[in-house]
Amino acid sequence: MKIAVDGPSGAGKSTLSKDIAKTLGIVYIDTGAMYRAAALACLRAGISIKEEPERAVEAVKACTIDLSNEKDGQHIFLNSEDVTTLIRTPEISMGASAVSAIPEVRLVLVDLQRDLAKTRDVIMDGRDIGTYVLPDAPIKIFLTATPETRAQRRFIELTEKGMKCDYETVLAELKERDYNDSTRAFSPLKPAEDSVLVDTSALTYEESLQKLLSIIKERMC
Ligand code: DC
Repeated sequence: MKIAVDGPSGAGKSTLSKDIAKTLGIVYIDTGAMYRAAALACLRAGISIKEEPERAVEAVKACTIDLSNEKDGQHIFLNSEDVTTLIRTPEISMGASAVSAIPEVRLVLVDLQRDLAKTRDVIMDGRDIGTYVLPDAPIKIFLTATPETRAQRRFIELTEKGMKCDYETVLAELKERDYNDSTRAFSPLKPAEDSVLVDTSALTYEESLQKLLSIIKERMC
């Protein structure tokens, strides 16, 4: 079973995908975490990603990025160091958006993603899973919500983690990432033609989860 879940940030992809994976007993793969780890590798090497894309490619090719599934969810390792928590900052979010626009970086990470999906049943979330990484996935969902709803969710999430932020900045950065992710030349964020579009703006978490589970069940039959 391959389930592709794409959409802009803050639409609820990762939380919903994690719960769906648990319910169906399949593996959850968060591909955004891989771009975040790649961004961390670049930032640690002092690379200004937008100005120095060649150096960014070298840094990504020189590092190892691995995923493991633990009891508390997916963990991501950069050169064997567990960076699961470190990659969840606004600075890394912007870096990931920048590094993900570089085609050579995408090719390296897409290979890894396809390898991970080859031998197991997965629900994989990202921006180009249905269009590029797993174009033959029988179930494709494009999850979205208004920028304001998504920014509000992200603001609450960051505040709960104890990070200082304000709603207007979160909204502005989210819009900038939406723009970067959907206008890049190679493999931009867009719904696959055969995906089911789900807008979660007016839905509670539980309603969104039930909706996705019913879409999946319908498509599995
Ligand atoms: O889902 P996320 O916010 O953790 O993703 C971080 C960035 O990585 C996002 O701005 C776009 C990029 N990304 C991508 O281009 N393709 C993917 N399959 C997953 C993420």
